[in-house]
Order: sequence, then structure tokens, then C-alpha cells
Amino acid sequence: MRSVFWEENRLKLIDQRLLPAQFQILAFDSPEEVAQAIREMVVRGAPAIGAAAAFGMVLAARRSPATTREELLADLRQAKELLDAARPTAVNLSWATARLLEVAEALTHADPDTIRRVLLEEAQALADEDVAINRRIGFHGAAVVPDGANLLHHCNTGRLATVDFGTALGVIYACQEQGKEIHVWVDETRPRLQGARLTAWELMQAEVPMHLIVDSAAGHLMRTGQVDVVVFGADRVAANGDVANKIGTYKLAVVARENGIPVYCAAPTSTVDLNLAHGDEIPIEERGPEEVLRVGGKAIAPEGTPVYNPAFDVTPHRYITGIITEEGICYPPFTQSLRAAKERAEARMAEERRQRLARLEQLRKGD
Ligand code: MRU
Repeated sequence: MRSVFWEENRLKLIDQRLLPAQFQILAFDSPEEVAQAIREMVVRGAPAIGAAAAFGMVLAARRSPATTREELLADLRQAKELLDAARPTAVNLSWATARLLEVAEALTHADPDTIRRVLLEEAQALADEDVAINRRIGFHGAAVVPDGANLLHHCNTGRLATVDFGTALGVIYACQEQGKEIHVWVDETRPRLQGARLTAWELMQAEVPMHLIVDSAAGHLMRTGQVDVVVFGADRVAANGDVANKIGTYKLAVVARENGIPVYCAAPTSTVDLNLAHGDEIPIEERGPEEVLRVGGKAIAPEGTPVYNPAFDVTPHRYITGIITEEGICYPPFTQSLRAAKERAEARMAEERRQRLARLEQLRKGD
């Protein structure tokens, strides 16, 4: 089942806040509700956030009372701003809303209802592409994971963090599909425990051999030869290959380097932001103190303890062996390899979109 999907004219999301205790699907009817779901992490993980925001744009178009194309575009621009502001680090969010807005803007002669219809098609296409892209990431990534490998994984990058299949966890699923015998060390990933709650849940369902570890155990495992590959996802990759990902990733990469362990980041090219020269330009989200002060709703520190809670960190590119994208694995110098991968992906997507719009145009003419 997909974690983000359109059903009965509404956006539906698995409520990731409740897992693994409860499996619940929530429905959303407006861009405001979708923005709130992203902020509160009903849906999380960069590609899943992007897909949810795309459907948020569809909801904005459908709820808009606009009777002219211009009025509708104005409402869509407003919805984009609202959705983009929900969380700052994952670039997939503004990438997806920009894609939907561009499609609407490109329909220069269309009436509002046609634009509404085409936007839904585009969001569906984006969601379908996400799954196909993840499968390609998995395929490319599996090639660098030896049979019998012990992998260390951070946060959750799987079926829940994407529309389906996953990025870094997709690499692990691809290894499993290829019959490789692998074992995964699952970082619990404080403060929100995406590793313990979500990755452990996914891997148990998929019957991938694994052990859950506290984040502080990772260094010990690496130093004692129990890790062969470190693999994680990304929320934004700068043009030079610096990677913003869940807090704690940087520490893993540094310790891996110290111990001669390869470090792979798995991410779609939609996570690559060529507008930012290096990682220091990536906005890092700071979240509220309650995530640190409580575990499972229970206080673990004195009431009123001052807290600093950055949700992401930046791993400088020199610690990264390769960035696994749907276009293949990018190796240093990342400035060149990432740009080439992004350009290939964008050319492919533009051609696919052109064909989709041409098909729609033909259908319209046939009406
Ligand atoms: O705060 P989250 O749970 O949204 O953070 C998620 C991550 O850091 C993931 O590693 C990243 O988004 C990639 S998900 C395929």
C-alpha cells in the first residue's frame, strides 16, 4: 500500500505519528490541512512530503472558486507559498509544488476545469514516478552492497518516507529481492524515533534481518568491524554534494570515514538542489522542545529544561563515497556528477510531461 494516495477525491496519508502502535489512514481536503499534516509529521520523509504537497496543490485548485485561469493561478501561487513554508529542509516540497504550478502556467489556453483535471493527472504522475525512481535507486545501490553485508541505516527512508519502496531502504529491499543475505543495524534515531518506530516496523514486515540499536551504539559497531556499509537518505543535497539529512547523520559519516567504511547517500535527483553551492546554505529546521523532553508522551527530563532541537545536520561531501540517484551512482567530483544526473533526469521528465500533455490535448479534441 502507498503511504500517499488519492482516493474519493481526497488526499489520504498513513498517520506516521501513530506507528507502530496503530495503523490509521487520514483524509485531507484542503492545502491548509495538508500543510498542517506536513508540519506535524503525519507524513514525513522528503519524497513523501513532496508527493503530499503535489496533491495539496490539486486540492487548492479544486477548492478554488476561480472562474478564470488567472484567478486560479493566483490561488495556486498562494497555496504553493503555504505548502512550501510547512517544513524548510526537504527541497522535494518546493520542487513538487513548483512542478504543479509550472504545469498550470503552461496551459495558456485552458479553462479552470481543464487545469484542475490536468493538475490531478500531474500529481498522480509525480507519485507514480516516485515509485519507479525508487526502484531504480534500489537497483543501482544494490550493486555496491556485497552479499553478506552488514548495513547501518539512519532514520526512515522506506515505503513510509516515499510514495512506496524507499530510497536507502529501497537499496536494502533491492538487495533482498536479488537474494543477497544482508543484515541491517537500525539506528533508533532520536528524538522522534523514526528508526525504531518506522524502519523497524517496515523491515519486520519485509522480513529483512535486522537489529535495532541506540544511536550511540553506531560508533562501537563500526570500530569493532560489524558494519560494512553506511546508507542513509537526504532531505537536500547541495550542488557540491553536501548532504542535509536527519540529525545524527554527520556523526555517522565521520566515524565511518575514521574506520574505512563506505558511506552512501540514496536520494532522487528531485532532492538535489543545484541552486545551493554548498551545505551551509541549506536551511536547517529547528523543532519544538517536546520532542526531546518526552518519549512516547512520557517526560524524560525535568519540566522546563531548556532544549535545542535541530532536526537535520549537514554531512560535508568529503565524507560521502557516492550518492545513489535514479540516474546511477554519482561519485566525486559531485559538482559535475550531480549536475549531469539532474540534467538527464529533468530532460526525461520534461519529455514524459510533454507526451502526457499531448495525450490530454488529443483527448480534449476528441471530446
Ligand atoms: O524529519 P523526517 O522524518 O521527515 O526526516 C526524514 C529524513 O531525514 C530522511 O532520511 C529523508 O527525508 C529521506 S526519506 C527517503
